[in-house]
Amino acid sequence: MSTIITIDGPAGSGKSTVSKQLAGKLGYTFLDTGAMYRAVTWAGMRSGVDLNDTAAMTEVINSSNLDFQNSGGETLVTCRGEDISDEIRSRDVTEKVNAVAANPQMRNILVKMQRDFAARHGSIVTEGRDQGTVVFPDAMFKFFLDATLEERSIRRYKEFKAKGIDYDLDEIKKSIEKRDNSDIKRSSGPLKPADDAVRIDTSEMSVKDVVGYILNHIKSGA
Ligand code: C5P
Repeated sequence: MSTIITIDGPAGSGKSTVSKQLAGKLGYTFLDTGAMYRAVTWAGMRSGVDLNDTAAMTEVINSSNLDFQNSGGETLVTCRGEDISDEIRSRDVTEKVNAVAANPQMRNILVKMQRDFAARHGSIVTEGRDQGTVVFPDAMFKFFLDATLEERSIRRYKEFKAKGIDYDLDEIKKSIEKRDNSDIKRSSGPLKPADDAVRIDTSEMSVKDVVGYILNHIKSGA
């Protein structure tokens, strides 16, 4: 039988790193649903359409042949065969992704893509904002990761620094706060813990600690 584990939480809560490691340890497939919202945003920007134009954006999705695969522990994202895994993480895409994320019709299309992905891959660890609440309400295990805004901003700052990108800490904080607010306030698939999710404050925990905590929880609940 296939097992679905959902990991939701705000930007910088550690869910990507934790989900990847957890999937690796369990031999499950990892699904980064944020990459889906980013890829659709990127494809819309590339096509030059208005990101708020639902009909035009639906056409973009239908004609882009977007594909998401696990490759060496990372998510390989392609658009008509072109590798766009790095491009979708750009500052420009990050600033504009909310136009797609806040649109209920876009979300319906992406929710279907996420369920199709699960049906094709069997056991998965999926991370996002609405995985435990909307996309997989019957998931076997649900977790919600959080951390203080300060800590999440510092994590992002370090990630950028490691990639050689100089990004002001205060700017990162403002950008994360803005994204959190729109993610929490939207009517469709808002960022919130499922009632039956285990909530973990990762502010003072290492990735290893969080992965260990989740594995223990899974083992004790299996
Ligand atoms: O997780 P990541 O930062 O890559 O997600 C990018 C954006 O995609 C988020 O800011 C959020 O607005 C949106 N998103 C979403 N629902 C998900 C995953 C991501 O709305 N399940």
